[in-house]
Amino acid sequence: MTIAFLNGEFMPLAEAKISPMDRGFLFGDGIYEVVPTYDGAPVGFKGHTARMSDGLSAINIDNPYTPEQWREILDTLVSKNSTHFSTGNIGIYFHVSRGADVKRYHAYPTGVTPTVFGFAFEIAPPQPTNKQSAKALKVALEEDKRWQRCHIKSTSLLGNVMHFQAGADAGVNETILFNSEGMITEASACNVFMVKDNVITTPPLNHQLLPGITRAIAITAFKNAGLDVKEDWFSKEDLLNADEVWLTSSSKEVAAVTEVNGKQIGEGIVGPVWEKAIRAYHAYKFDA
Ligand code: PDD
Repeated sequence: MTIAFLNGEFMPLAEAKISPMDRGFLFGDGIYEVVPTYDGAPVGFKGHTARMSDGLSAINIDNPYTPEQWREILDTLVSKNSTHFSTGNIGIYFHVSRGADVKRYHAYPTGVTPTVFGFAFEIAPPQPTNKQSAKALKVALEEDKRWQRCHIKSTSLLGNVMHFQAGADAGVNETILFNSEGMITEASACNVFMVKDNVITTPPLNHQLLPGITRAIAITAFKNAGLDVKEDWFSKEDLLNADEVWLTSSSKEVAAVTEVNGKQIGEGIVGPVWEKAIRAYHAYKFDA
């Protein structure tokens, strides 16, 4: 049984109960984070707590905890769950919803206490550092049908879930999304990078995509390693004609994609720039 955190207390996950009137349940009215940890060391903790603060203030919920308090909850969840998992690769989920009101009414209520929830789950091991051992992903490609505030890490994930499900139905690992102008935004639960002629490109931040913490760490890591990386829009045609395509997320780190919508990318194998990139990422990730 894993141990969860709910409203100030640690308890077995099965005993963590909330009201059905919770606005997280009724409206998806909340913010969440997923922080990866390896043998107890989190990656991007500062970035995750800063993004959570930004998300909470964007929807007028007071952040219930300081970064130091979040860190204490994270460390406790990791240590209380460490014997439960067979590896030290543990993801920590944090979730703050607006809380339970007595009635269902769309406007933000006053005097309601936010619900704070956290739990631990096993994540994939760190990516290998050579391309022969790396898992190659296949993805679908769809027009982005989500809302206009994708920079907020909201628990209202139905749009993302539907895009991810389309990929799952097609037997692939993820779904990359393009906007009405045919430009790539992100994937249903990852950011997207492409490589052409040794230049690494990822879409710039705006309301159409989540400011991924892995994305930010990767950009700095690539620059530190002298790789050529830029933030710029690229089209689905550019993506399909890229030498390499990668996804980034807290659970996938930097993952190579070798097939998009049934079309082979580059040579159809994990590429040489990925190998440099993942080494740069590993060299920097715990310093971010
Ligand atoms: N997904 N874009 C979207 C839509 C995401 O949901 C995520 C993360 C990312 C990558 O963000 P980060 O590098 O900070 O994990 C990009 C998480 C892992 C999830 O929903 O489980």
